[in-house]
Amino acid sequence: MLVNPVKRAYLMLESWFNLSFGTAWNPLYHLGTLSFFLFWVILVTGIYLFIPFHGSLEGAHASVEWMTNEQWYIAGVMRSLHRYASDAVVITVLLHMFKEVASSRFQGFRWFSWVTGIPNLWMIITIGVTGYWLVWDELAQYVAIGSARLMDAVPLLTGAMTRNFVSGEMTDRFFILIEFLHLLGQPLLLVFMLWIHVKRMSNVEINPPRGLAIGTLLGLTVLSLIKPAVSHAPADLTTVPQILNIDWFYLNVYPLLDIWSGESVWILTIVVTVLLMMLPWLIPKKDGEKAVVDLDHCNGCGLCFDDCPFDAITVQARTDGAKFEHEVVVNPSLCGACGICAGSCPSSNPFRTPKGELKTGIDMPQFTADEMRSQTKQTLESMHGEIKILVFGCEHGLNANRLDSEYSKGMSLICSGMLPPTLVEYALKHGADGVMVTGCRQNDCYFRFGNRWTRLRFDGERKPALRGRADRQRIRIHGGAETDKNEIKADLKDFHQHLVELKQAERTEADD
Ligand code: HEM
Repeated sequence: MLVNPVKRAYLMLESWFNLSFGTAWNPLYHLGTLSFFLFWVILVTGIYLFIPFHGSLEGAHASVEWMTNEQWYIAGVMRSLHRYASDAVVITVLLHMFKEVASSRFQGFRWFSWVTGIPNLWMIITIGVTGYWLVWDELAQYVAIGSARLMDAVPLLTGAMTRNFVSGEMTDRFFILIEFLHLLGQPLLLVFMLWIHVKRMSNVEINPPRGLAIGTLLGLTVLSLIKPAVSHAPADLTTVPQILNIDWFYLNVYPLLDIWSGESVWILTIVVTVLLMMLPWLIPKKDGEKAVVDLDHCNGCGLCFDDCPFDAITVQARTDGAKFEHEVVVNPSLCGACGICAGSCPSSNPFRTPKGELKTGIDMPQFTADEMRSQTKQTLESMHGEIKILVFGCEHGLNANRLDSEYSKGMSLICSGMLPPTLVEYALKHGADGVMVTGCRQNDCYFRFGNRWTRLRFDGERKPALRGRADRQRIRIHGGAETDKNEIKADLKDFHQHLVELKQAERTEADD
């Protein structure tokens, strides 16, 4: 499989981060949860800052100065944490977007997550804007005047906002409105929008691994101590500030107002937003055929419901009069066509029908459980070496066929989570000396949970579990992207050597 240059560069970046943080704590694998974490940091520090903050034009700047200079050791640190976590969340959200694009996880059935993500980005930016406003220093003045120009460019609001400033003053009432927006209105709206954003996914994690969270907080605290956030001079609407330190994460459109009209800045913003929202259709990608339920082989156990990463499966009362209480139903518009459900269905057990066609409770039309079994058998029959290793890969990690050698042959599944553990037993029973499962990089499954469920099933911690009778010495998992080919090849070689030694030990034992 060819990897586009953007994806390759991103994979390399992730590899470097893996070297420093390990796959479990790699921030690039936890950008969504890290954004949530930063949001909590902003919320908690914001609540603290609200206590000494004076919510009036007269008192705002002085109260922020007091926090920064007098109580620098608590309120000052809280202020800096609030500022730096806010900057960091823009970085993590932009990287989160970039990652979804680089790994083609934004089109097809994922359009909803993408489209609902964009307003979150804008909401974060506008919360930052009202935040800068509250300090009521020269930067706040710049933001207030710029925002007034932008608002006045909106047809229905014409002139309403500039009226606050033309007389050289801003009213306390208006300031309280901004305070209300920043402290309550916008954050509540953001939480609601985030809920919608992740609504179409199941088992959504909103907390990053503890170590990553602690490390992030520590890093931000150190930065806050080394370079505390400071204000400009107090706002004075009768003068024009000469030097401003703009926060480019939040205030990047404001300098455009020096050269463009408010209307033009709006047009640019709207065009960028619409283009971003349309991206899933501008770079389209077709979903595979959706999962299909066969009630004749479904007992309504609900394992597929538990495993589906995209909330596409529901369990309902039986409709066909069979003796079982429940049945499952697939919603095709939510289905990611990953096949993880087929891997979790107990009826996908290849030993069930040794002679006839293998029919299972939930299956993928493009690669059925029966085809998986027959391809496993055929691949093994085509191998003639002393040691035979069958490699199950997936369509989004390293192409398993690139691991073909005199002792190994690859077979590609849609996702490694599609592999019923019993098929591994079947392969070992039908001539394989060893089975290797590749799939995506650990903690970075294209279908969210495929490789995680596989590991848990193999470790006996998730149903359907690999049975105790399966010889675990002959099974190895090493997920990885196309760019990890050399590492996986080296591990495959090591696995081969291990199987050779096992065979020798068995021979010696038999001779004795
Ligand atoms: C504060 C802002 C955001 C937060 C906290 C956030 C958080 C998350 C989380 C937790 C997930 C679920 C990840 C998983 O469990 O696999 C997710 C998924 C996703 N997000 Fe965001 N997100 C934000 C903004 C955005 C933006 C701006 C975009 C792009 C426009 C975006 C695009 C996506 C997409 C496409 C997915 C689906 C990934 C998949 O199906 O594997 N998100 N986001």
